[in-house]
Amino acid sequence: MAPQRVLVTGAAGFIGNAFLRRLLAERPGVAAMTFDALTYAGHEENLADLPGAERHQFVRGDVAVAADVERALAGFQPDAVVHFAAETHVDRSILQPEPFLRTNILGTQVLLDACREAGIRLVCISTDEVYGSLAAPRRAAPDHPLAPSNVYAATKAAGDLLAQAAFRTHGQDVLVTRSTNNYGPRQMPEKLIPLMILRAHAGESLPVYGHGLQERDWLHVDDHSDGILAALERGQAGATYHFGGGQGRTNLAMVEALLAACGRDGARIEHVRDRPGHDQRYALDDGATREELGWTPVKALEEGLAETIAWYLGHADWCRAVAGDDLRAFLEANYGDR
Ligand code: NAD
Ligand code: TYD
Repeated sequence: MAPQRVLVTGAAGFIGNAFLRRLLAERPGVAAMTFDALTYAGHEENLADLPGAERHQFVRGDVAVAADVERALAGFQPDAVVHFAAETHVDRSILQPEPFLRTNILGTQVLLDACREAGIRLVCISTDEVYGSLAAPRRAAPDHPLAPSNVYAATKAAGDLLAQAAFRTHGQDVLVTRSTNNYGPRQMPEKLIPLMILRAHAGESLPVYGHGLQERDWLHVDDHSDGILAALERGQAGATYHFGGGQGRTNLAMVEALLAACGRDGARIEHVRDRPGHDQRYALDDGATREELGWTPVKALEEGLAETIAWYLGHADWCRAVAGDDLRAFLEANYGDR
């Protein structure tokens, strides 16, 4: 039977929030709890206008603190946990690794232990970045060797391996999902697409790292959420599922498209110092997942981007609210000297 009480970690952030909205809207019998530490990337604003809000509750807690997790599980009594909470920005992981090790590795182990103790399913949300850079036309299938290039990717790979170890050691009901780059509403404007939309609209320079010919495969966050829901309800314990957008673009092509769509006077592309260890290309082979879960992405990139641009430009209050001092300091540290 599909889970009826679902605890979602990290649902005050980008993808967890989209998933939470999907879950509440499409499963009217489901009750959900958001468990989130509200780091710089988590925003209570994202929990303000939820569909089925009467079936949702929020608790503030840290996945790396066992007592926080155990208290939430004991209070809410979920029959499954979907684990999005993470430190997620590659550039930050290069500057300051420690929170990535703590949340992405220790936090995942804390959840594994607590869910095993409670006898409930845990779905761990991971990323194509664990495979490192792939030369075209290769695509990574779930058994492809892990070769992470930066602290973010390495800590996500560690979390994935801990989940696989829990399955092998204890036969735990845990599964891993990996997706390509997501885009859509409510993504922190430190990530490529919202950053470029807001800077283009403000008539500022658009900082493209290095030559800009690195390729990312873009998946709309609602398509990703549908895949995760299918994995939660129908996935097999111990499995790893892949969700790809099948819509690879170079960063330069993406930024040029965003500039053309929303650039104001003064907005222009500026090639800046490259990210150290910058992965050239990510790509997933998601054929087995599509077949097993019956999942397929439906949002065409051009349509999804137009909607995403309209969302950011129509939510100036949200953008102001999330762009706190921390984000300003980060942007200044990264772009200020270039
Ligand atoms: P995000 O940075 O937008 O949100 C992360 C959320 O986790 C925030 O709400 C934050 O407050 C919360 N959080 C951070 N540390 C926490 C802690 N110690 N305890 C509790 N909550 C904590 O991230 P996102 O882009 O939505 O990514 C969600 C998940 O999806 C991550 O696991 C990420 O690795 C994975 N993923 C992201 C992408 C992408 O393109 N963004 C692609 C593939 C996989
Ligand atoms: P990002 O959104 O940080 O996602 P990820 O590193 O997880 O793929 O970056 C997407 C791509 O865009 C990546 O190749 C780095 C590049 N990039 C820029 O060129 N300029 C920027 O200002 C940012 C934030 C990213």
